Amino acid sequence: MADSIQVHAVRAGSVQRDAGRRGAARRDAGADPVHGAPALRVEGLGKRVALPGEELTILDGVGFDIARGDTVAIVGASGSGKSTLLSLMAGLDTPSSGSVALDGEPLSALDEDGRARVRGEKVGFVFQSFQLLPSLTALENVMLPLELRGDREVEGPAKAILDKVGLGQRLGHYPRQLSGGEQQRVALARAFVTRPSLLFADEPTGNLDTHTGQAIIELLFELNADAGTTLVLVTHDEHLAQRCGRMLRLDSGRLVP
Ligand SMILES: Nc1ncnc2c1ncn2[C@@H]1O[C@H](COP(=O)(O)OP(=O)(O)OP(=O)(O)O)[C@@H](O)[C@H]1O
Ligand SMILES: [Mg+2]
Repeated sequence: MADSIQVHAVRAGSVQRDAGRRGAARRDAGADPVHGAPALRVEGLGKRVALPGEELTILDGVGFDIARGDTVAIVGASGSGKSTLLSLMAGLDTPSSGSVALDGEPLSALDEDGRARVRGEKVGFVFQSFQLLPSLTALENVMLPLELRGDREVEGPAKAILDKVGLGQRLGHYPRQLSGGEQQRVALARAFVTRPSLLFADEPTGNLDTHTGQAIIELLFELNADAGTTLVLVTHDEHLAQRCGRMLRLDSGRLVP
């Protein structure tokens, strides 16, 4: 594990030895803010929800590390807790027990604003249900994360990435004017456009035909190879899971050893 972190950090040209420069390091996709920390550490993670008359355990004692630059597929039957786990890892939801740390920074130590800052700085997320903003065009949806973090150049990069996912001719379309697969590609473009150091994608090829799905898979792995982006993908797609360096399997909220 430590070796793989080192190799990746060197490849990204950004071994960060001085812990006192943590702030400056945050914007660097290959940065290693807490020296030696994995990109992601999940420990004893549990999620329980109260239902009328009973408590439902969605995740139970889930733990693993993901090294910088790794590609990981999370697989398991429908309802096994994959989407819940992904939301917890990205700080979009809070656990009932256990912890998640990104680059050695525990999400539990942050409030809602702090978690939003960390997401904006280093996380891209593709939702299973896309979650595009209905009142914004495809181009505006993709420009938004760049605008939110204060980039000056927003239109050029957003157009370029939409072109890459094959939607260069759909820039002005609103989500309701796009097919399911097209909406999924806008969601992917929105997650990619900031070149995040960690990309979480929930069924990124779930609504796509084989050809488009393959193109998206290539784009994901290109991002991993070029920018050192750590990929964590939930998928039922055997081909995509096989391409990943590692597979984690959930069964009824527990990690299968
Ligand atoms: N807020 C909630 N309240 C009650 N039950 C929930 C809640 N969120 C998730 N669940 C339940 O937890 C289980 C896991 O849900 P989750 O969405 O994580 O599954 P999944 O593995 O992503 O499934 P799929 O492959 O169908 O997307 C499901 O049985 C779901 O009904
Ligand atoms: Mg799901």
